[in-house]
Amino acid sequence: MKQITSFEQYQQEYKRSIETPEAFWSEQAEEFMWYKKWDSVLDWNFDEPNVKWFIGGKLNITENCLDRHLIQKGDQVAIVWEPNHPDAETRKITYKELHAEVCRFANVLKRNGAKKGDRICIYMPMIPELAIAVLACARIGAIHSVVFGGFSFKSLADRIQDADCAIVITADGVFRGTKDIQLKAIVDEALETCPSVKRTIVFKHIHSDIVMKKDRDVWWHDEIQFVSSDCKPEVMDSEDPLFILYTSGSTGKPKGVVHSTAGYMVSVDYTFRNVFQYKDGDIYWCTADVGWITGHSYLVYGPLLAGATTLMFEGIPTFPDAGRFWQVIDKHKVNIFYTAPTAIRSLEAMGLQYVKPYKLNSLKVLGTVGEPINEEAWHWYNENIGKKNCPIVDTYWQTETAAIMISPLAGITETKPGFATFPLPGIQPALLDEKGAELSGNNVEGRLCYKFPWPGMIRTTYGNHERCKEAYFATYKGYYFTGDGCKRDEDGYYRITGRVDDVIKVSGHLLGTAEVENAINEHPDIVESAVVGFPHDIKGWGIYAFVICENERKDVDSLKREIIQTVTKYMGAIAKPDKIQIVKGLPKTRSGKIMRRILRKIAENDFSNLGDTSTLLDPSVVEDIKAGAQ
Ligand code: PRX
Repeated sequence: MKQITSFEQYQQEYKRSIETPEAFWSEQAEEFMWYKKWDSVLDWNFDEPNVKWFIGGKLNITENCLDRHLIQKGDQVAIVWEPNHPDAETRKITYKELHAEVCRFANVLKRNGAKKGDRICIYMPMIPELAIAVLACARIGAIHSVVFGGFSFKSLADRIQDADCAIVITADGVFRGTKDIQLKAIVDEALETCPSVKRTIVFKHIHSDIVMKKDRDVWWHDEIQFVSSDCKPEVMDSEDPLFILYTSGSTGKPKGVVHSTAGYMVSVDYTFRNVFQYKDGDIYWCTADVGWITGHSYLVYGPLLAGATTLMFEGIPTFPDAGRFWQVIDKHKVNIFYTAPTAIRSLEAMGLQYVKPYKLNSLKVLGTVGEPINEEAWHWYNENIGKKNCPIVDTYWQTETAAIMISPLAGITETKPGFATFPLPGIQPALLDEKGAELSGNNVEGRLCYKFPWPGMIRTTYGNHERCKEAYFATYKGYYFTGDGCKRDEDGYYRITGRVDDVIKVSGHLLGTAEVENAINEHPDIVESAVVGFPHDIKGWGIYAFVICENERKDVDSLKREIIQTVTKYMGAIAKPDKIQIVKGLPKTRSGKIMRRILRKIAENDFSNLGDTSTLLDPSVVEDIKAGAQ
């Protein structure tokens, strides 16, 4: 297994990857199993956009995740599963067993009518069957669309409809801390508006009483009895879509980001091995849910492509107490631990008494992802979890990039707290000013773009290529635009400064302000709302909602509670507003556009420089809002 082992080598590899990208990426792709190698490496054009890698290649990614490891690693544990309750039984699944389970479930999918190219929605708890379902789709060439189990029936229905899914794979329910959540009931509600779904396959996990709809719902455990563990992988083209994953954008409708098969595989494998410096035998734990890109790339595909042991955790960091992560690390002797800054901050706030009982001496590498990590949290993580012995990789990337883009290589790149450091080999970032001119040299700050494709990049947004172009390639001609601001310091280190568009990162989750507004507006008394972010100690950003009420309601507290319930119902608990202010009007321009800049300032409690308000339709609303600000 080839890996970069020194900073000098990183620099050489970086240089080579920029000078001869096709040769560089071909070399990375060589080590996989291909039915047929590619005819040409790359075809691209950011105007359409059109990006194709390893053109003409034929493969199946599950062969590379599973079959390829069977001879040498058949008896090695592929997935360690840690349940929600610490007293419940851990499961360990070897590569041989995982291979057999994936093949079996792939046959179940076929038995239920699934075929290559079909879209299959997966709405499941963090249990091994979730990974099995994902891989089984890939085995038969069906396109998986995993929806995070915390999303509500409405978000689930929107995603199923957009991808026109024929099958939904789910479970009766999920344990989360002290609660049980009835997933199947949410699916039932969603499916009332999803006529495309002809079949749901239900895994029995919490053994709750659920209703099975005749002719539509079947049990996983029944179906599995009818099939064998032989399933020849479907031959896929390099550019065949592997999956769709929805992400929020600045309009109300989430975008179905489409990833390819070969390019995704090569980028994810290369970054997993190099960033974490994974060594054979390491136990690796990524705490992200498979419903997010981090779970796809660095809990399922990346580790399995590398033949690693990947830990999957069903529970939450604070159950039964705030020491749960650290207890799991000691219990399974975790070597590489990858989590989100928001989790670190919330555990830091609980106090060191939850860390002290644990040794944490198996740890070698720590990682963070999803949002900028503030220096204080970085130091707490370094000192108390890493015991100053573990390099921290602050990995910057996105759903659309599929794989880590800017990050230290563990133990190789000298880190600076709060900096994602340098681009990985093959990645060509550019900082642009507002007019689109590229800023050269160091000590500059601008909008982060990429000027050259990498294998794992987004190919399209499902069913609407124009939207992909608009969202990522139209702002700056010839560049992919991330939506993030970024600084390159005097040493050339990159520091992500945060979003520059209408999406907010709440606890590391990307939420479109328009999406949250749509959910709030479902409340019968609300006529209009405007949502902005404000800095939040634990979550990074919190949600501040300004709402206009139709009939004046005196019971403001219960109205606020109802709004929170409405958002939970229509979007999911992750989108609950932290602050709600009832206002008489919103600051709008004469053309009706809400001036969010003003609302953002007020939400940040900064009334000093609200800019010119004279162009507003009714400047007096600003005074009212200021007076009622929280
Ligand atoms: O704003 C950046 C932030 O997360 C966004 C991507 O979110 P999502 O597609 O949900 O993927 C999250 C997991 C990769 C980015 O546009 N972000 C992600 N990682 C970092 C980050 N911001 C700062 N530092 C990071 N390490």
